[in-house]
Amino acid sequence: MTQIIAHRGSSKVEPENTMPAFQQAYKDGADGIEIDVQLTKDGEIVVIHDEKVDRTTNGKGYVKDYSLKELQKLNANNKFPTIHKVTIPTLIEILEWIVSNEMTLHIELKNGVVPYPELEEKVIQLIRLYGVENRVILSSFNHYSIVKCYRLAPEIETAPIYKSGIFMPWVYAQSIRAKGIHPHYLAAPNELIEESMKNGIQVRPYTVNKEKDMKRLIEVNCTAFITDYPEKAVRLKEKLKKKTTP
Ligand code: G3P
Ligand code: CA
Repeated sequence: MTQIIAHRGSSKVEPENTMPAFQQAYKDGADGIEIDVQLTKDGEIVVIHDEKVDRTTNGKGYVKDYSLKELQKLNANNKFPTIHKVTIPTLIEILEWIVSNEMTLHIELKNGVVPYPELEEKVIQLIRLYGVENRVILSSFNHYSIVKCYRLAPEIETAPIYKSGIFMPWVYAQSIRAKGIHPHYLAAPNELIEESMKNGIQVRPYTVNKEKDMKRLIEVNCTAFITDYPEKAVRLKEKLKKKTTP
């Protein structure tokens, strides 16, 4: 049955990549959450999408130029700034919380623009410390990083993210020892999903927000999809299940 993964948490109702967004995803019934990680000036792993803090916080400049302490002074609630203040979470905070539930954790390494030194080593060390190797999937647009993760920790699943068509992506995934692929949903027609899954490769398209696209993926029994609207996706999945069960 298709799993629902909350993209940066329930990011349309709470500020993206913050604890309230992840907690809301849990309440919405999502099977997992997707988070983006980067490194601070003092080498701490923080959960934020952009290389700069400008769009999502009240600060300015690069994440890499802030210490963790400085970053934690910012309000990561640019969406509804007057309602409440939220901090940029650390990966440790997410792991502390995720061990209390059964959700899967998709960690996207955001190292395509800033080459964060030893990001892979640091992330893997924490995953092992919290013993969640079997429900974490490491993904990235940086496929060199995906291969590095596999070499460092072959027990943790990896998945390359990509935007436009790769020819026979299941063959590519196997060649880099990835267990899954995370294509843009427009680069994931049904035949490609079916062929990949037949070849043992999990398919989790992103970012699937329209009901008609969700329906297609549920009906083709795609492994999972990544969405900003987990509540809508969970409801649709239930509705479609009722239709097919006599
Ligand atoms: O995990 C896939 C998706 O999150 C990649 O796009 O830009 O939202 O991180 P982006
Ligand atoms: Ca992401």
